[in-house]
Amino acid sequence: MNIPTINIIVFTVFAFGLSIWAMQHNGREKASVSACYGECYEKYEASNGGVVEIAQAQAAAKAVASPAELGKGIYAGCVACHGPNGGGGVGPQLAGQSADAILGKLQRYGKGETLGPQSALMWSQAAQLSPGDMENISAYVATF
Ligand code: HEC
Repeated sequence: MNIPTINIIVFTVFAFGLSIWAMQHNGREKASVSACYGECYEKYEASNGGVVEIAQAQAAAKAVASPAELGKGIYAGCVACHGPNGGGGVGPQLAGQSADAILGKLQRYGKGETLGPQSALMWSQAAQLSPGDMENISAYVATF
């Protein structure tokens, strides 16, 4: 193959890929939800319930979720440094520690205490967690 042919192939593949990406990212789904009114909204409401029912269902689902399940959502903010399964990385390994041990350390960071040389990194993290968040996260970390 000569160079112009290769250029054409590369460009075609690129253009094709770009158009697929554009199709997937054109926000059509969002637009169709907000543009759903009249009969469309009635159908949506009939199958999903109105705003109030949806909010009630979400609140009920949250109420029955276990502490570990609730903690799982909050742990998303810890993954970058502690790993998806608590294996460690920038921060130390959390896997293998009991819920009480994790909770105690989070509470101490929350008070601005120094546990290791990099505690400053954890002070800002702990400051964003409510006491309930800390308990839920500890329950989740103990499942690793
Ligand atoms: C920016 C990176 C970073 C993020 C994000 C982060 N941590 Fe940490 N974490 C660290 C570092 C670094 C340490 C060690 C701090 C020290 O020296 O005291 C640490 C220490 C800890 C410890 C004590 C571990 C031990 O055995 O000494 C716990 C528990 C902990 N983090 C939980 C969390 C939780 C829960 C989150 C999410 C809310 C989180 N961390 C988010 C970096 C991070």
